[in-house]
Amino acid sequence: MTGDQWNDSWERLMARYQPGRAQAIERMIELIATRCEGSAPRVLDVGGGTGTLCSRLLERVPRAEVTLVDLDPVMLKIAGSSLPSAVNVVRADLRDPEWTTSLPHVGYDAVLAVMALHYLPPARLTELYTELAGLVRAGGFVANVDDMPEAEAVAPLGDHGIPDDGGVSWDAWWGQVAADPVLGPAVAERARLFGDAPSAEWHPPAAWHLRALGTGSFDEAGVAWRDGDQAAVVAFRSR
Ligand SMILES: C[S@@+](CC[C@H](N)C(=O)[O-])C[C@H]1O[C@@H](n2cnc3c(N)ncnc32)[C@H](O)[C@@H]1O
Repeated sequence: MTGDQWNDSWERLMARYQPGRAQAIERMIELIATRCEGSAPRVLDVGGGTGTLCSRLLERVPRAEVTLVDLDPVMLKIAGSSLPSAVNVVRADLRDPEWTTSLPHVGYDAVLAVMALHYLPPARLTELYTELAGLVRAGGFVANVDDMPEAEAVAPLGDHGIPDDGGVSWDAWWGQVAADPVLGPAVAERARLFGDAPSAEWHPPAAWHLRALGTGSFDEAGVAWRDGDQAAVVAFRSR
């Protein structure tokens, strides 16, 4: 498969696991487009994966200067082969407090994460929010879209509630990647980097994220979008 075809198949997979995904991404992009009208916003997508958000953003805001950060060599290969060359695709580990030194810019107008930060344990995510606050320029914002139930979740979400629509499952998708002659070799490196448990699979309620964001230097934070357990928290910095 080509990079674009892998990207499409990733998108179909993610849509099964993330109800309202297309609307959430559109909402984030509209937020950037309206707040940065007429300018060339600098946008950072953390845990950006194959680059879906970046490519949709560039369709809507072609002047955006986009950076995608990820650690997974499979995701980075797909992003690198399907995104325009103007996008800065950066390999960095969000678990490492020094990760920001790999970025091409010191300031961004929007920092976004989609279904990525539940890979991190609570203490590290709290620190990361402070690091993200430090990257946001005046007038900018940080947004995180993920599973954020309104009340405290009692158990990991796992595959519970995934529609039986004939689409491939998470494990089957990764099986296809492992069998691919181009991407397959990167799977072993992925396992080395992430270990047996790539994701913390920890889904606190939106209120937890808002409290954690409050430890950074934001002026205002709230829930900007919700569809069931999926929500987007956004924190704005005015100064
Ligand atoms: C479920 S995927 C979502 C990808 C993309 N945001 C999307 O919505 O299509 C989670 C992403 O977070 C990335 N990720 C997880 N832990 C990471 C870490 N420690 N450093 C960098 N990226 C990480 C994964 O490699 C993966 O690409």
